[in-house]
Amino acid sequence: MSGLPFGCAEILAATGGAPRVLDAGCGSGRLTVALAQAGAEVTGVDTNASQLEVARGRAAAAGVELTLLEASFEALPFADASFDAVVSRLAVMASDDAVATLRELARVLEPGGRLVTVLWASPGENPWFGKPREAIAAVLGRERAAFARAFGKLGDPEAAAAAHREAGLADVAAVRLYELRAAPDAAAYWHELSAENGHFRRVAASLDAEEAALLATEVEARLAPYREGDHLSLPRTLVLVTARR
Ligand SMILES: C[S@@+](CC[C@H](N)C(=O)[O-])C[C@H]1O[C@@H](n2cnc3c(N)ncnc32)[C@H](O)[C@@H]1O
Repeated sequence: MSGLPFGCAEILAATGGAPRVLDAGCGSGRLTVALAQAGAEVTGVDTNASQLEVARGRAAAAGVELTLLEASFEALPFADASFDAVVSRLAVMASDDAVATLRELARVLEPGGRLVTVLWASPGENPWFGKPREAIAAVLGRERAAFARAFGKLGDPEAAAAAHREAGLADVAAVRLYELRAAPDAAAYWHELSAENGHFRRVAASLDAEEAALLATEVEARLAPYREGDHLSLPRTLVLVTARR
């Protein structure tokens, strides 16, 4: 299972081999497929039909069966106590009412079942994201940097744990997870980021030549503190919450 996105290995470990697992906000299905490969019967829900199509293709390529439904995790189309574990990676912060969403995730868990949620910590703890976005605000103005507003929401272990407790969950524990992302230099990193992340891709596609040059200089200056020898080393920080119904 190497090559899984940041936090997936910890989520897999925390589900403890639960037989029926729901992945809430499953997106393109990388975690969903990994859960099925680990032997679980897995259901994924997402509101984005095109992401679900990618997940279907990924499952077919991996030779695993998934149940994938276009549905909101704010109102799940499942009876109470339908799953032994519910996981959600980088999704519940999108909800306007995170506590109500966590309560809905808990509803579909068996009593004693495990909820595992993963969220980005604050942009300050994620310079790989926060610094390029700050550079966009400085060069192009706040409006063009007003994307991914939910990034870092509940991104503090105490706040995330409190929301889970308020939703009625028990045995709540929240920890930070860390990794470093290496890049050869700021220009290469901006190129990678705008290829893989839709927010940065849209900004990059909107730039005229003068803006592109100014932004390149600004990104380089803001990433300079993360230079280690011949490369950049950019911290990434998640908050992992485990709880039981
Ligand atoms: C950043 S992506 C993460 C996807 C996947 N969990 C992963 O780790 O790669 C967030 C996902 O949450 C989905 N999402 C946002 N609000 C949702 C909702 N109310 N119900 C279901 N999915 C939702 C989005 O469509 C998107 O696919």
